Amino acid sequence: MNDTILQVNNLEVSFFTHVGEVRAVRDVTFSVEKGEILGIVGESGSGKSTVLLAIMSLLQHPGKIKAGEILFENEDLAKKSNREMQHIRGRKISMIFQDPMSSLNPVFTVGNQIAETIITHEHVSRSEANKRVLELLELVRIPSAKTRINSYPHEFSGGMRQRAMIALALACSPQMLLADEPTTALDVTIQAQMMDLLRDIRKETNTTIILVTHDLGVVSEMCDRVQVMYGGRLMEEAACRDIFDKPGHPYTKGLLRSIPNVKKGSRERLKPIDGSPPDLITPFDGCPFAFRCPHTMNLCMDSCSREWEIGEMHRCACHLCNPEVKALLDERGNE
Ligand SMILES: Nc1ncnc2c1ncn2[C@@H]1O[C@H](COP(=O)(O)OP(=O)(O)OP(=O)(O)O)[C@@H](O)[C@H]1O
Ligand SMILES: [Mg+2]
Repeated sequence: MNDTILQVNNLEVSFFTHVGEVRAVRDVTFSVEKGEILGIVGESGSGKSTVLLAIMSLLQHPGKIKAGEILFENEDLAKKSNREMQHIRGRKISMIFQDPMSSLNPVFTVGNQIAETIITHEHVSRSEANKRVLELLELVRIPSAKTRINSYPHEFSGGMRQRAMIALALACSPQMLLADEPTTALDVTIQAQMMDLLRDIRKETNTTIILVTHDLGVVSEMCDRVQVMYGGRLMEEAACRDIFDKPGHPYTKGLLRSIPNVKKGSRERLKPIDGSPPDLITPFDGCPFAFRCPHTMNLCMDSCSREWEIGEMHRCACHLCNPEVKALLDERGNE
């Protein structure tokens, strides 16, 4: 039986800019099971990072959670104060970013930074913390960890820095790791090593991972489940294999079509589908993909579909998946 670690309900996040409200995340509901790797894909601007930042309470001004719940261990993170979140960040949920230098401080040795984090959060002695640092550097496969512990971040290569950042994120054994495109800045070989590392970490520590990526190759190799976002909404959600074998949403189908060779081992970035991304400022209740979808109906301009169950643990927010609409279209087709 699965065990839910995170349950996000009807999350709404907006950026209140001087030109208007940017509705970056709209009515997003999903859950994450303990120990799984959940992928979030979607083209640029679809709201992927905003979802992760909302979970961490790290949204920058003018971003705000407008509505919804973020339930972690039965507590709503959306209602926590900054102070309360400081106890959760790093200790229970950690986040790794594309740029390791955003987490690493250039003036301290890598070992020192990780040790400080452990001491601050866990109140252990320096020697205990140092022992743990060594274990962590070994966990993230930093060679000659015993000497590298005294290196400064600038003495590390890009890939090693990324490993150090992951070690820092894991310093206090969080239950959940949020990874926002952690490898896009790295070259392909190092990207692959980093993904292997994340997979090994999951295996060795049973850490739950949410992985945001543009890369469907990474998704197919890494993830147990995947969610497809577009225009701030969740379009489809399924077991990884089902997204590739039985995509339900025209947007997902478009994504897969735009990469003819999605197969294990291939690594390609998503190519945008024809048309422009949706305008998130002008109020629109329809499906954000309606302007680019080859199957748009009047219905799609009026409302965004609810999520329909189209298979086991497979949900799709498209009116075409509504059995009544399907029956009507079939009837018309037969006329
Ligand atoms: N600080 C901000 N002010 C105004 N709008 C913002 C801000 N940050 C994000 N947005 C908007 O919110 C929407 C979602 O952005 P987000 O960064 O979550 O997308 P993303 O899916 O992570 O994209 P990418 O793949 O490029 O990282 C976009 O339309 C973006 O322009
Ligand atoms: Mg992003």
